[in-house]
Amino acid sequence: MKLTLSVIKADIGSIGGHICPSRQLLEAVRQHVNQYSNKLLRDHYISATGDDIAIVMSHERGMADPAIHKLAWDAFLAGTEVAKQQGLYGAGQDLLKDAFSGNVRGMGPAVAEMEFEERPNEPFLFFAADKTDPGAFNLPLYLAFADPMNTPGLMLAPGMAQGFRFVIMDVNHTEGDRIIELQAPEELYDIAALLRDTERYVVESIWSRASGEQAAVVSTSRLHNIAGKYTGKDDPVMLLRVQKDFPATGEVLAPYAIGPLVAGAMRGSHQMPLMPVRLDSGISYFDGPPIVSCAAFAMHRGKFTEAVDVFAHPFWDSVRSHVADKAQEIRRQGFFGAAMLPMSELEYTGIMEKLDRLNGRFIVRGSEQPQRTVAGKKKRARKEEGVLLG
Ligand code: 13P
Ligand code: 13P
Ligand code: MG
Ligand code: MG
Repeated sequence: MKLTLSVIKADIGSIGGHICPSRQLLEAVRQHVNQYSNKLLRDHYISATGDDIAIVMSHERGMADPAIHKLAWDAFLAGTEVAKQQGLYGAGQDLLKDAFSGNVRGMGPAVAEMEFEERPNEPFLFFAADKTDPGAFNLPLYLAFADPMNTPGLMLAPGMAQGFRFVIMDVNHTEGDRIIELQAPEELYDIAALLRDTERYVVESIWSRASGEQAAVVSTSRLHNIAGKYTGKDDPVMLLRVQKDFPATGEVLAPYAIGPLVAGAMRGSHQMPLMPVRLDSGISYFDGPPIVSCAAFAMHRGKFTEAVDVFAHPFWDSVRSHVADKAQEIRRQGFFGAAMLPMSELEYTGIMEKLDRLNGRFIVRGSEQPQRTVAGKKKRARKEEGVLLG
């Protein structure tokens, strides 16, 4: 049976700043999907991670289906109404366009979809992260699909012996999807060279080289590319099929014990360790730390079992404690050096105006002429143009 798994995610408002959605808001989204999903969906699962709400859907309508996307968009609109009524912070934050145009891609919400022939038993994982961006999945995916130190299946499972194909996107390219396909293991060093730059190169999907089957898909939207200014982080979602010719669930989960430093937390401007958390966890320390949740499912003919909360296991308590220590450690250096993101990532925030203003106060010793600001230069150019035209 050919099925599509779609996950569409948005931040449409939250309690106490960017912590978590209200129960009423989640309920409004649930009600909308329940009411309108009858003929469209085989099944669905709605959850919150931090302040983001994700709708996971199984259906037979294929990728980028307008009716599926509209269902999610309208559910987020219904939720936004509640967010406004309740005075939630950032009501409708990720709904960047007014009118729905057939596909939520480019409109603010994050999307990840894959279409496949359902296996007789189809275990899959749904990951959602808050206060970070899609590059946060680069390292866990590299380790799970390309490193036998993490994934013995690469040595032990016949279906994995040929390795995996990584499709990597250059998310800085805004005119279209700029992608490259690289093969693990032959091109491991090339894959690593790209994936180290998490703000620019992001794993979009991973495919089995033995069967050609898709194993993973990650949402790759960059909100500031759409809005031209900082509108919140690009809190990503990911779907991942596991077992048989794909890594085992445990191989996929193991890298999250590292708690790697990723972009995110306060004002989307810092480096903080990624904490694996229970489903429906909120946000706390320093608008972070960045969190990742994972729900495991089995699926048959598109019907989901109950979600199993994989990071609820006691093992992850000590990881959380380690990540909390690491978070406090990097916070001790405040804005200094590596604690904050590089300028290229901050250029969508108010700091550019500040730097521009300060630029006007710099002097070159000896000339005593204040440097002109970019804004001032533009103003003078307009004035001169007016004079010339006039
Ligand atoms: P089982 O033998 O319990 O199916 O486990 C196989 C496996 O892949 C565990 O990692
Ligand atoms: P979100 O992207 O999760 O809304 O977070 C915004 C933020 O900057 C929190 O400090
Ligand atoms: Mg928010
Ligand atoms: Mg968020």
